[in-house]
Amino acid sequence: MCGIVGYEGTREACDILIEALSRLEYRGYDSAGIALLGQGTIHIERRKGKVEELRKIVSGAALKGSIGLAHTRWATHGVPSERNAHPHRAGDVVVVHNGIIENYLALKQRLKRAGHVFMSDTDTEVIPHLIADYAEKGRNFTDSVRLALKDLKGSWAIGVLKESERTLVAAKNQSPLIVGIGDGEYFIASDIPAIINRTDRFIFLEDNDMAIFRGRDMRLTNVDGEEVVREVRQVRWTTAMAEKGGYSHFMLKEIFEQSRAISDTLLGRAREEEGEVEFEGVDLPDLAGIRKIWMVACGTSHHACMIGRHMIETNLRIPVETDLASEFRYRDPIVSPGDLFISVSQSGETADTIAAMRDARSRGARTLSICNVLGSTLAREADSVVFTHAGPEIGVASTKAFTTQIAVMFLLMLFIGRKLGTFGCRDVRERLREIRAIPRKVQSVLDTTRSIEAAAERYMSFRNFLFLGRGINFPTALEGALKLKEISYIHAEAYAAGEMKHGPIALIDESMPVVCVSPADRTYKKTCGNMEEVMARKGNIILISDDETHEMAARAAQVIVVPRTIYELQPILSMVPLQLFAYHIANLLGTDVDQPRNLAKSVTVE
Ligand code: F6R
Repeated sequence: MCGIVGYEGTREACDILIEALSRLEYRGYDSAGIALLGQGTIHIERRKGKVEELRKIVSGAALKGSIGLAHTRWATHGVPSERNAHPHRAGDVVVVHNGIIENYLALKQRLKRAGHVFMSDTDTEVIPHLIADYAEKGRNFTDSVRLALKDLKGSWAIGVLKESERTLVAAKNQSPLIVGIGDGEYFIASDIPAIINRTDRFIFLEDNDMAIFRGRDMRLTNVDGEEVVREVRQVRWTTAMAEKGGYSHFMLKEIFEQSRAISDTLLGRAREEEGEVEFEGVDLPDLAGIRKIWMVACGTSHHACMIGRHMIETNLRIPVETDLASEFRYRDPIVSPGDLFISVSQSGETADTIAAMRDARSRGARTLSICNVLGSTLAREADSVVFTHAGPEIGVASTKAFTTQIAVMFLLMLFIGRKLGTFGCRDVRERLREIRAIPRKVQSVLDTTRSIEAAAERYMSFRNFLFLGRGINFPTALEGALKLKEISYIHAEAYAAGEMKHGPIALIDESMPVVCVSPADRTYKKTCGNMEEVMARKGNIILISDDETHEMAARAAQVIVVPRTIYELQPILSMVPLQLFAYHIANLLGTDVDQPRNLAKSVTVE
């Protein structure tokens, strides 16, 4: 999704902004632009395509200025083009925007009637015109911004620059925006990795906040002009964490970080000796009398929820309902007061997941968020939050966030089990021993990357894949198919293995490889039956199993063996080779692995 960066300080802003913008490239975008305020007027440059194109232009132009804004656009209203790229300008007001202005057509008509001329097809362009309109009517700059914001319906994070007053304003509603505090300088950004090399001190703006930067001072108000106070928080992510560190892609680096990420996620929480799980500093909701748990998310995080449901229902016998956030919010769900609503999100900024959590809370649910980003909206708004300690995830395809989410769900399941008396210390101790061994086992799968690359070479030219799994392995199959399709653009779909004969079996022939996730668990025999059905139709099987002596191994076209663990944690180990398989195929095909076409890292609009 769109990315915003801004700078107000004493240094030349151009290079700082372009560099910060390139750190936001992972969010997905189609055009980029920059506005710089030097001694005189604001200079704007915009380009369709990559930040690199913009960099070439501005480096040649030797743009000067110590205040500025820059933007990467992910098209919503109007095609990707230079004309629609941000910043947009009206008079001496310049705006960059992330989000969607839902009432832009009505506003545009009103402004056109007042003589405003529009140059783009975007919803964003109404914002500078509205601000300029209020300014023409005699309002000062900050009042004009406030009044304009009150006219808007929808979601926005904006940066506004006014030439004549040398003032920068940042404001947000339902789209993330942070302020980075440097030494005599300020940064604004859509998220932390953009400016992590500049500062480790951040203010996470809240909805309806406005930060006003003028002459090295910052003032925080709400849209009514009242002063607000926001905590300055220190973030311990390092610059190296947001860089590739010698890997060819962020995605590959992040796949290889999973052993470390899972260890960090367990740190201080898995108290093996005591047979307890602790979430220090987390005020978890009261679990007494809990009758139902909801687990709601989008995409990969939703697949993690499906795995969480298996863990909790099997072990704790508490009913769990999972849903896609985009469905949950529009189906008038039957949430009862006291239900526990768990939202799961890497970014903590996914618009549908945030809306679903707000909806559940309004129906009386207690809310808990599993999230990777400190200060994000879900982390701030949930009654409690348990962080995955995956570190920044830059590759658009989620990998380490997924496996650390499963690790947190497992810990949470043990924690709830202890609280409700379902588990004794011994039960917890035994299970913690298993999860403690997971980082080492993940590493041993990672060490087989060469052989998975060789398998990728064999299969890279197929255009369709089917993924099958049963029980807790079905979400793994779904996630394996999602990884492959999103980065390689190969059509891949996943089915619960038992569903295959209800339709997809019609597709099977030698041109359709079938990836079967079949560990030696309670689903083993049944999945073997499905594999027989595939082979009877000349289908090629790629088998992922923890069982070296799997009864289908000799007849499968490809076997990938992973280490064994308990039922609840096997999806972590089955998933790692599927991530590598998708990565290597995409890399061999030469797609843009870290920024696949049409995709955005953080889906901050509906
Ligand atoms: C797929 C992927 C997406 C995200 C989804 C939710 O690889 O990354 O499907 O999982 O957009 O994002 P978060 O977890 O940030 O809420």
